[in-house]
Amino acid sequence: MSAPAYPLAIIGAGALGLHFAARLATQGPVALLARSDAAAARLRAGIQVGSILYRPDAFGPEAVIRAEWVIVLVKAGDTAAAARRSRSLAPQGVVSLQNGLTEPLLRASCGDLPAGQGITTEGAWRDANGIHPSGAGETLLPPGFEAVAEALEAAGFQARVEPEIAAARLAKLLVNVAINPLAALFRVPNGALLEEHYRRLLDALVAEAWPVLRAAGLALDEADALARVYEVARATGANRASMLQDVEAGRPTEIDAITGALLALAKAQGLALPTHQALYTLIRQLAPHF
Ligand SMILES: NC(=O)c1ccc[n+]([C@@H]2O[C@H](COP(=O)([O-])OP(=O)(O)OC[C@H]3O[C@@H](n4cnc5c(N)ncnc54)[C@H](OP(=O)(O)O)[C@@H]3O)[C@@H](O)[C@H]2O)c1
Repeated sequence: MSAPAYPLAIIGAGALGLHFAARLATQGPVALLARSDAAAARLRAGIQVGSILYRPDAFGPEAVIRAEWVIVLVKAGDTAAAARRSRSLAPQGVVSLQNGLTEPLLRASCGDLPAGQGITTEGAWRDANGIHPSGAGETLLPPGFEAVAEALEAAGFQARVEPEIAAARLAKLLVNVAINPLAALFRVPNGALLEEHYRRLLDALVAEAWPVLRAAGLALDEADALARVYEVARATGANRASMLQDVEAGRPTEIDAITGALLALAKAQGLALPTHQALYTLIRQLAPHF
């Protein structure tokens, strides 16, 4: 019997993977690849995603299936394993929508397969009751992933291919290096970071990160960079950043793919970023890491 073939597969049946899969599945078949057979079996029995009881075509790590396109939605530290799983699906391409800078590792682990990293401001969180989508966002994909953008749009997501995807990734990284570690360290929702005593640190983080990211291809001037960070903190004021949720749950954080990636860029430019370095060290003390 030949392996089942899907137009789309999602690797990572967590908050965002299930949010995307449940909506995409309203338009066509989607394979959802879970970390274990037990997790796949639980998912097949049904999981609440927003108002939908979703019964995914969920598969464990050894299932033999094919997929034309793969979306990676595991946490950054699981990127290499997800890339290896992607290769077994023999797709046309693999695209990550993770936070942090995971494209180099994804590409290295995908071998000859076309692989790239997009960004998304879709949001979702999970608890014992299921998955809770937390508001619509926008998804930008690297050139070459037009078919994925079309599938997302058909399912009602705001999605498009972004020719300047590297600059867009750096703008997202800027927001993440400023908000995530601070929110996680002080255990406050994003909006609190605009209060005077936190804001001085937020400003320092942007001031240190901006020259490094600008030299790497960020397309924002310094004032716009700061305004972007404030705007996201304001717009997501009641949200608890994913790094904060990870710290509270005792899960590994994505500090290496976020602040660690910035520190690596700075090192390559011969620069030291003392405030980011301090937060990096503190978050790694606070929580397990990959
Ligand atoms: N949630 C959001 O609102 C949001 C928004 C924008 C971007 N992102 C980014 O999207 C990515 C996913 O975030 P998330 O919140 O969805 O994380 P999550 O809820 O932790 O989901 C990740 C899922 O991937 C599974 N996984 C790990 N390794 C795997 C493997 N080798 N094969 C198959 N499944 C595997 C995990 O299984 P276990 O549970 O067994 O570990 C978990 O179910 C992160 O990079 C995050 O920063 C998230």
